Amino acid sequence: MSGLAAQATTLAAVPGGDAVPRHVAIIMDGNGRWAKARHLPRFAGHKAGVEAVRRVTRAARALGIEALTLYAFSSENWRRPEAEIGDLMGLLRLFICSDIDEMVRENVRLRVIGDHGRFAPDLVKLVDDAVARTARNSGPLLVIALNYGAQTELAAVARRLAEEAQAGQLDPATIDCDLIERRLDTDGLPPLDLLIRTSGEQRLSNFLLWQAAYAELLFVETLWPDFDAAALAAAVAAFGQRQRRYGGL
Ligand code: FPP
Repeated sequence: MSGLAAQATTLAAVPGGDAVPRHVAIIMDGNGRWAKARHLPRFAGHKAGVEAVRRVTRAARALGIEALTLYAFSSENWRRPEAEIGDLMGLLRLFICSDIDEMVRENVRLRVIGDHGRFAPDLVKLVDDAVARTARNSGPLLVIALNYGAQTELAAVARRLAEEAQAGQLDPATIDCDLIERRLDTDGLPPLDLLIRTSGEQRLSNFLLWQAAYAELLFVETLWPDFDAAALAAAVAAFGQRQRRYGGL
């Protein structure tokens, strides 16, 4: 069954539409504005953003969300000043060091999408070790997008399929949506049900462009550092009211 057909049968069948999304993704935006409003350096906004990550991952587990994907560092974020990039890397380092034991204990599976191999070698190792430590867990998935860009992800899939076809290992006639989905970074994750962006901006910013094909989109005014369990619960409730038709009637 295609990913879309599977999604349609798991959720559209729920009467009354009070379904909990299986897979929620968040574009965590507004850290800088949160800090600016308090006359604080941008770093303070990102630091408060990590607290929100902690709150929201716990809340997602409590709500029974199977997978939570967070856009922590986009492939375009390299355009930020070097000092801010360093701050974000430092916060990621701290987050993994301080939260990995809880993830192991709580049966969370940590996964990464994107090309984090471009990060500093010690951070690459830290991330890979953390992913490996939780790999045998069977509980909810926490997926962190690191140096992720959807267009790059799709270009890499196209390149690999072309190489395989050229080497005679793949019949181009067999390339379909299912095959492409299996080559995406998100292979094996539940279909994306709900994509939230905080801070009032209404853009996808190169995040999960393929996966969002039939996701419900929710743009909220809350700045990411203020996003909490109640805000996630409200987003899930709003999702429950949406009618998903997948192109049908
Ligand atoms: C957008 O706010 C946020 C980011 C570019 C980074 C998100 C990172 C974190 C929340 C912290 C690290 C994450 C983890 C998983 C440990 P912005 O700076 O663009 O805000 P602005 O638009 O108000 O300036």
